[in-house]
Amino acid sequence: MSERTPSAGTAPEPSSPEPSASQKKIFIKTYGCQMNVYDSARMADVMAPEGYVETASPEDADLVILNTCHIREKAAEKVYSELGRLRELKAEKAVRGEGLVIGVAGCVAQAEGNEMRRRAPVVDIIVGPQTYHRLPDLVARSGNGGPALVETEFPAEDKFESLPAPERRKTVARGPTAFLTIQEGCDKFCTFCVVPYTRGAEFSRPVSRIADEARALVEAGVREITLLGQNVNAYHGEDASGRSSSLGALVRELAAIDGLDRIRYTTSHPRDMDDELISAHGEIGKLMPYLHLPVQSGSDAILDQMNRQHTAEFYLRIVERIRAARPDIALSSDFIVGFPGETEADFEATLALIREVRYAQAYSFKYSPRPGTPAATRDGQLPEEVKTERLHRLQALLSEQSEAFNKSLAGKRLPVLFDRRGRAPGQLVGRSPYLQPVHLDGVSADLFGQIADVVIEEGLANSLRGRLATSEAAPA
Ligand code: SAH
Ligand code: SF4
Ligand code: F3S
Repeated sequence: MSERTPSAGTAPEPSSPEPSASQKKIFIKTYGCQMNVYDSARMADVMAPEGYVETASPEDADLVILNTCHIREKAAEKVYSELGRLRELKAEKAVRGEGLVIGVAGCVAQAEGNEMRRRAPVVDIIVGPQTYHRLPDLVARSGNGGPALVETEFPAEDKFESLPAPERRKTVARGPTAFLTIQEGCDKFCTFCVVPYTRGAEFSRPVSRIADEARALVEAGVREITLLGQNVNAYHGEDASGRSSSLGALVRELAAIDGLDRIRYTTSHPRDMDDELISAHGEIGKLMPYLHLPVQSGSDAILDQMNRQHTAEFYLRIVERIRAARPDIALSSDFIVGFPGETEADFEATLALIREVRYAQAYSFKYSPRPGTPAATRDGQLPEEVKTERLHRLQALLSEQSEAFNKSLAGKRLPVLFDRRGRAPGQLVGRSPYLQPVHLDGVSADLFGQIADVVIEEGLANSLRGRLATSEAAPA
């Protein structure tokens, strides 16, 4: 999963009803990937029966949770600066005779729990991505001023079974789009990556549980579901006959749910793009024509050093097959520049792969050595200036491509799901099948949560602008 502001899914708005004075308040700040967004919502769910309602401000809160990300150094460092601010808030509240329980959840908690206990004594609770269902008990036991309580084991199965059932959740859905975690953890051990250490071993939820959750979301007004996993296409959950289901089969089953109009999934690994999933893209209309398929590098030597377990050619052949199944598919990827030992020629091989694929969208990062990962201590670490310079060149090419893709949609008629209100009255923002935001002016707020055809008037760098299609407009 990429660490990014989620473009798909729930806006972390505080849930209704309005908190009363006797209720306790929880503030959750989410860093990192979409799986953390899903987990934050579940943390709010497990605290709801304890009388906690969400608030949008830490000042009002009795309990603050930072749901953290460890993927790159910058992501992890943000947590400690936020904890500095919370230390002051806790002191101010203490003067007023008010308590504040501070919890750190997520991947930094998992990776650095014990170090954090020493480095940030203001923290009361440290809970990992697979143990947050135990929050109520931890909160009840916290607050005596002692060292932080730490819960960081890896029982992924226990977590899902212990979370409130979808229909018993306080806030089932917060808009027409939602995330649904179907798979956790990773066994691939790319040499740069912390995820196998922070999220644990690969684990897939059973089909029936996922289908129940999807149906509850649809009943609550959700029309688009993004299936989540660190390696979502390695999904192998048990189906009704006790056999292992693939992601392609799961998508097919979910596509049969009435009222669920759009299905997406992220993040995929090239090694797990099987024929069933590729053909699903050609056969299931509800499966959106967008695929995030990270390649990281276009150099075989670097791919090998990264332990990605495939070559650039293998990746290009998948792209070819997926385009044969669904010619209009929008492709997206993650790239790392400046991996240890990356030469100028290796970097140029990455640029060449990008030119060949033509991406609609992409995320790119400077290599960040992460403690405990094999690549962090390798020879050949590159100077920051080299990484910066390569990142700029790579991003220039990728922005050119995404702008070209957006411009190519001008004049087309696309079904748009309206999932955000704009700043001014009459403005609505939706998402196209290809996941770009689509901005419209002068439309009725009643369209929120609906899918309507839009004629694209202009493709911009990162978004589209359009107007509602009239019924006479010719279909694209
Ligand atoms: N499971 C997904 C990605 C998970 S992490 C996959 O295998 O593709 C999300 C992205 O963060 C990665 O794709 C990678 O581009 C980036 N990333 C991970 N570790 C990194 C590191 N140490 N330095 C820089 N970027 C990193
Ligand atoms: Fe990290 Fe690699 Fe697993 Fe992706 S496949 S989560 S990059 S170890
Ligand atoms: Fe996600 Fe960051 Fe953890 S990307 S899996 S929150 S390290």
